[in-house]
Amino acid sequence: MKGRTVRIAPSILSADFAALGSAIAAVEKGGADLIHVDVMDGHFVPNITIGPPVVKSVKRVSHVPLDVHLMIADPDRYAEAFVEAGADMLSVHVEVLPHLHRTISLIKSLGAMAGVVLNPSTPVVALEEIAADVDFVLVMSVNPGFGGQAFIPRSLQKVTAIRALLDRAGNHAPIEIDGGIDLSNIARAVEAGVEIVVAGSAIFKTPDPTAATRALKDAAAAVTR
Ligand code: DX5
Ligand code: ZN
Repeated sequence: MKGRTVRIAPSILSADFAALGSAIAAVEKGGADLIHVDVMDGHFVPNITIGPPVVKSVKRVSHVPLDVHLMIADPDRYAEAFVEAGADMLSVHVEVLPHLHRTISLIKSLGAMAGVVLNPSTPVVALEEIAADVDFVLVMSVNPGFGGQAFIPRSLQKVTAIRALLDRAGNHAPIEIDGGIDLSNIARAVEAGVEIVVAGSAIFKTPDPTAATRALKDAAAAVTR
């Protein structure tokens, strides 16, 4: 665990959509390493959020890479539009993809980092055959669809198991965690092997998103120092 750097990815899902520019500036000031963008289509998850035009606007104002999380039923159809709009990292759910290897290759060919996401009920074994090919793995620690849900503790064992699987495949790809992360559990997530931490409400539902970002970063750094 020592010597690793942990990146913080504030999720703008919990920000004020009428003031995304200032929300992004605030977390960048607090040391945000990435901006996490949650795309939902009302099919794969019950909620509907944003599409490529908003990603394009966010790209214009952010100084850090965009980490775009596709919670949509047909990622193959939209991957190119999101990369063109400015996604630097693009993650897709294994649950919707019968040809995951093809999708990962497509995302890489578009020039973005390709990530694979597992829902809380999806077993680690779903990654077995793709472990060598992914640029990162995103472990959902809530059921996707909404911000502000409670962290599912079992996700930590999953992180440890996925780290072992990636290591066996000779892949140093980082593991990202998403859902219910705050100051009470970030250290445990990093101890389990997480290197990218998404946080929505723990940052944007506080009076000072800059300070909240910094506090999460410090808490993560304290584990790896
Ligand atoms: C949930 C999204 C998350 C969400 C996290 O479906 O994928 O990125 O914004 O929000 P919090 O940190 O509030 O659980
Ligand atoms: Zn997300």
